[in-house]
Amino acid sequence: MAADLTWLEDAGLKFDVDGAVATVTLARPERRNAMTPGRWRGLAAIGRSLPPAVRLVVVRGDGPAFCAGIDLRLLAGEPVPGEQPIPGPGDPGFEDWIASCQEGFGWLRDPSLVSVAAVQGHAIGAGFQLALACDLRILTEDARLCMREPTLGLVPDLMGTKPLVDLAGLPRALELCLTGRSVPATEARTLRLAELVVPGSELDAAVTELATAILAIDPATARAVKRLLGQAAANSLAGQAAAERRSQAELQRGRLA
Ligand code: ACO
Repeated sequence: MAADLTWLEDAGLKFDVDGAVATVTLARPERRNAMTPGRWRGLAAIGRSLPPAVRLVVVRGDGPAFCAGIDLRLLAGEPVPGEQPIPGPGDPGFEDWIASCQEGFGWLRDPSLVSVAAVQGHAIGAGFQLALACDLRILTEDARLCMREPTLGLVPDLMGTKPLVDLAGLPRALELCLTGRSVPATEARTLRLAELVVPGSELDAAVTELATAILAIDPATARAVKRLLGQAAANSLAGQAAAERRSQAELQRGRLA
């Protein structure tokens, strides 16, 4: 039985499935799609209940900004309607709570799908990490990426540090985190933080074009390629060559079965 996801709307999320494409939309534009634990829970629930036919997930934000990061009222200890206060560091469940928030991001790297962040305007803090959680990023020309956490006395803890270092390299990742500066789209492209930068009016078309190309690849082949490429950075050349052989044999033998 399909999970009941009707509560997502109250959590400020929209979730649409059209065949092999799922779209997750942050839908609190009046708050610049600021993040709350409810929204992280919603993202995790979407990940858990994704129909098996889905091969491509688009993550986008309504309004002028992709996502303005954590709802600052939570950090200030102010009430946020519909949300519990966030636990304090003295709470024994503090790390488990962070793990539950990370669950909303981790599934976007699942080998069975390709995730694409469609980013317009600001992606700050948790919003930048959400974009980093996706496999690919398409930015509009007005997009700006910012790892603001350290300026607030926080480390980025929503699975953004590894992709940031993998993509931009350690020195640049350090510089971006410890200055908290806002990276414009053209620089983001140079830093490999964006695959594509397009005018705002062309964002949807660019996402559709990318999705169409990816979905034209045989599903088992796409899964095998994503899994294989995902191992490359941690493997030696010989180890990766062995992984290629194994992957090819598995893929081709799977067709004989
Ligand atoms: N938390 C709560 N409310 C927010 C947030 C946020 N992170 N960001 C924006 N809002 C609210 C504003 O308070 C404002 O509410 P109001 O209309 O009731 O006054 C509304 O959204 C619109 O915000 P503006 O600042 O007017 O919008 P603008 O488009 O000019 O600027 C921007 C957008 C750049 C995103 C700005 O709002 C901003 O800097 N927000 C804070 C970003 C931030 O520091 N996030 C924390 C990152 S760290 C982390 O995520 C762990």
